[in-house]
Formats: sequence, C-alpha cells, structure tokens
Amino acid sequence: MVHIMNPLGKMVMALLFLPLVESMAVNGLNQQVQRDIAGSAGGQALDLAFVMDCTGSMGSYIDTARKHIQAIVDEIVTSSNTTVRLALIEYRDHPPQDNTFVTKTYNFTDSVFMMKIWLNAARATGGGDGPEAVAEALFKATKLSWRPEATKITVLISDAPPHGLVPSQDSSFPNGSPTGHDPMKIVRDLAQMGVTLYIIGCEPAILPYKDFFMALDYLAGGQYVPLSRPELLVDVITGGAQEELSIQKFEKLVQVEVQKTIAAGGTVDKQKISQTVYNELVNSGATSTHLLLNNATLEGTTDAAKQIASATSMAEVRLHFHMATAKPYTYPT
Ligand SMILES: *[C@@H]1O[C@H](CO)[C@@H](O)[C@H](O)[C@H]1NC(C)=O
Ligand SMILES: *[C@@H]1O[C@H](CO)[C@@H](O)[C@H](O)[C@H]1NC(C)=O
Ligand SMILES: *[C@@H]1O[C@H](CO)[C@@H](O)[C@H](O)[C@H]1NC(C)=O
Repeated sequence: MVHIMNPLGKMVMALLFLPLVESMAVNGLNQQVQRDIAGSAGGQALDLAFVMDCTGSMGSYIDTARKHIQAIVDEIVTSSNTTVRLALIEYRDHPPQDNTFVTKTYNFTDSVFMMKIWLNAARATGGGDGPEAVAEALFKATKLSWRPEATKITVLISDAPPHGLVPSQDSSFPNGSPTGHDPMKIVRDLAQMGVTLYIIGCEPAILPYKDFFMALDYLAGGQYVPLSRPELLVDVITGGAQEELSIQKFEKLVQVEVQKTIAAGGTVDKQKISQTVYNELVNSGATSTHLLLNNATLEGTTDAAKQIASATSMAEVRLHFHMATAKPYTYPT
C-alpha cells in the first residue's frame, strides 16, 4: 500500500485516493506503466530540506549521511522533471551543552552546487549531553521559505533524542527545549503546512529512541529509514518524493472533479469521483510508477510509536515513553 495515511493534513486526501489507488492496484496497472505523472506533468516544484545533527556523536555517521544526501539530491534532480530547491539545517545544542551554534540554517537554493558546498562544510563536533536541539532544528524547518505550490519534504538525520524525552539523560533541559519549542507540536505544524517528514536514523545510537522518531514521521506522513540501509534510503526518499508529486497531481484532478460536481448541483460521492479521475488518467495514458510502495522491506510504524503519536506535547510523551523498549546508549564524548 502507498504510505499516504497521514492522520492529519492528508486524511481527506487519503480517503479520496484510497479507492483510486486500490483500483489501480487491482488492475495491476502499476506493473505495466512506464510513464510517471511526476515526469509527464513537467515543471512541478519540489522543496527538499535536510535537517542534520552535527554534534560529536555523529562523527562516525556524518560522512555516510553526507554521501546519501548527495545521492538523494542527485537522483531527484536527474530523475524528476521538477524545479528542485534545497535547504540544509545543521543543529547542535543549546548552551551550556554547546557554545558553537544551536542551529545553522541555509535557506532554499536552486543550486545543487551550493548544497554541495554546505554539505562539505558541515562538521560533527560538540553537543555535550546525549539529547540535542532536535526541537529547535525542526522549528527552523517550519520557517524556511517553502513555496506554497511546491511538494514539501523534510529529511531529519539524527542519532540522538530531543531534550525532554528521557529526563535522566538530560543534564540541562530535562523538561524540554529551553526555547519552549515542542517537537510534538512542530511536527503537527509541518503536517499542516503540507510538509512530509522523513527520518534517517543513525543506528545503533538512535535505537533506544526509535519509537519516538517513528511517531514524528507518522504524524507528518513520512517514513523512518535506518542510515545503515543506504539502498533503501535512496529508493524510499526518491520514491517518496515522486509519490508525493503524483499525489499532488491527483489532488488537482480530484479538486477539479469535485468543483465540477458541485457546479452541476450534484453531491460529492468520493467513490464516483475516484472512478472518474481514474478513468481520465487511464484514457490520457498518464499513470504513476510510484503508487504502490516499493518492495523494500521497511519496518512499519510500531504500536509504541502510534501510542506516542497520540500525545500532543513532550510532557505527555514522557508518560508513554518507556526506555524498556530500548537499551540506553552511552554517547562518546
Ligand atoms: C519537463 O517539463 C517541461 C515543462 O515545464 C516540458 O517542456 C519538458 O518537455 C519536460 N521534460 C520531460 C523530459 O518530461
Ligand atoms: C528563509 O527565507 C525567508 C524569506 O527570505 C525568510 O522569511 C525566513 O526567515 C528564512 N528562514 C530561515 C529559517 O532563516
Ligand atoms: C523489487 O522488485 C523488483 C522486480 O519485481 C526487483 O528487481 C528488485 O530487486 C526488488 N527490490 C528489492 C529491494 O527487493
């Protein structure tokens, strides 16, 4: 099945598309199709932001992360006919845990070359205690210059929890970010803005907190991917990007159909509209290769993650979050 069941912003869309997607699957269409809506539609906009932990514990992961970001960027830029813009947010921690920077933001650029320069300049150092400024970094992502018409994707690369998740590991901010930014609220803001959040987990360091991160991407319609599986990483993120573009395209068609129906004084029947849009797509030869999730073996959202996702604040998450689901990890200093 496609991963479009975002419990928030995309719920209505998902309801509209489900019968459509199912009928395409039943007809085995996606096996035959060669043309991709993202490609054939042309000129669509994609805003892709990477949010990367740049603290000392990332030392062993940062080169791999850099390489994979580069691969994702290259693949998306070459494989889809879209106007892609890229942004990078590096994050470390709040003083006194780190005195270099909390976040460093490179706002959207359409230059792949610029993105390469930013990536190459990123260094993993500092960070102090285990938890890092995840909340502040995600907050900065909501403040990027997203284009309203663009497909919006944020990829968070992390090996450590935000402040306020496991107070016993938090030497300065056991109750959460000192700026008051709360990841549980911010991911909902991202979802409302139409931003899909993918998370690349640097394992094994991230493992004790994986359920928490899965809850974040569950709320913002994305997917958790371990950094250790690069082949899945590029597939999922690029596949995801194109799938989003396809859905965006469908959304427009469905809107047109809904408006036509209303203008004609009819009532909106989602089954009927799905069928009409489906027929139109088949007749025009436009189909998508990305409607079914690729056959890569990815872990689905865990029950623990879904439970965490029901919380609206870190304070509430702390009630549900059990280190029992994971082994504590000693961070290198
Ligand atoms: C890409 O999109 C543009 C329109 O923005 C179109 O002219 C061009 O033919 C498209 N290219 C491909 C390979 O689909
Ligand atoms: C990105 O650019 C926009 C427009 O120039 C600006 O309003 C916004 O504050 C910038 N975002 C960040 C996080 O620097
Ligand atoms: C997915 O399936 C295709 C063909 O059905 C195969 O070539 C490919 O190797 C598979 N990918 C994975 C990750 O299993």
